Amino acid sequence: MPSATARAGANIALVKYWGKRDARLNLPAAGSISITLADLLTRTTVSPLADLDDDELLLAGQPVSAERIVPVLERFRALAGSDLRCRVETANSFPTGAGLASSASGFAALVVAADAAFGTALDAARLSEQARLGSGSAARSIFGGFVEMAAGQRDDGTDAVAQPLLDAAGWPLEVVVAITEAGTKSVSSTDGMNLTMQTSPYYRAWVDSVPADLDQVRQAIAAKDFEQLGEVAEGSALKMHASALAARPGLIYWNPATIACLHEVRALRAAGTGVFFTVDAGPQVKAVCLPGEGARVARHLAGIDGVEKVIETRLGPGAGVEA
Ligand code: DP6
Repeated sequence: MPSATARAGANIALVKYWGKRDARLNLPAAGSISITLADLLTRTTVSPLADLDDDELLLAGQPVSAERIVPVLERFRALAGSDLRCRVETANSFPTGAGLASSASGFAALVVAADAAFGTALDAARLSEQARLGSGSAARSIFGGFVEMAAGQRDDGTDAVAQPLLDAAGWPLEVVVAITEAGTKSVSSTDGMNLTMQTSPYYRAWVDSVPADLDQVRQAIAAKDFEQLGEVAEGSALKMHASALAARPGLIYWNPATIACLHEVRALRAAGTGVFFTVDAGPQVKAVCLPGEGARVARHLAGIDGVEKVIETRLGPGAGVEA
């Protein structure tokens, strides 16, 4: 069987996914909307080989545990009627250990490469479903530009898949990622959302508030209304963190530089720059900017005490096989 290589971009949610209706199938408790990034890429090669006893995973050339990818490969083997084990080689274009989620681009690249290697020819919705089983946010990285993930209603999760809303060229926003703490490990998204679901008195209110945010962000994207997009996206991130802060023990993902960046983004906006922030399960800040504003926002965030590095990127395409 030939090997296949695929690429996928990381994505950041504007309406956050934080909580599951089924932990085994990674079914989200509510929908989410994200943007896929052009320059934070995972490139993955899947090689089914006759002489392997077990699946192997190499991250940037170093052998690491294949535990999280074996179930993904098992499903492709079942679909293809094959029992070939795989060597999987993967690398990120962005610094690993910089606290940027690589699971979304990682699982999206993995399923697209596995689909090509095993010749299973799944359509995009089924690829999104397979990626979701690896990591909920990965379902969105199958598509480029603006993407909506459905919560779905079915118990088997076949309707909990992502779909594209608008491609990257349709509204070429820019994104600046401010790294405020490379290397430190926060509580993972999976663990953080489980703790929030089990212990936060605000969890239910958070989940109940998501559908209205989805409506407003869908409208903002259709109308290219940046102000409305920013208002709802900042609100979604802050509500997600509020629900996590109220867990027991409370989850504090931010450090002083994180908060300084949030204030700087608001100061820039007050002075007329088109920019808003979002923050995921870690201390990094992502600033979403109107076209042409990224470089300016990057300069400002780079000057803040405690910001170690900034990465500028555009919106990018969905996952795809490399020729
Ligand atoms: C805060 O997709 O990493 O980034 O489904 O358990 O793998 P699992 O979680 P994951 O969670 C992402 C959480 C988030 C918000 C988001 O991307 O929507």
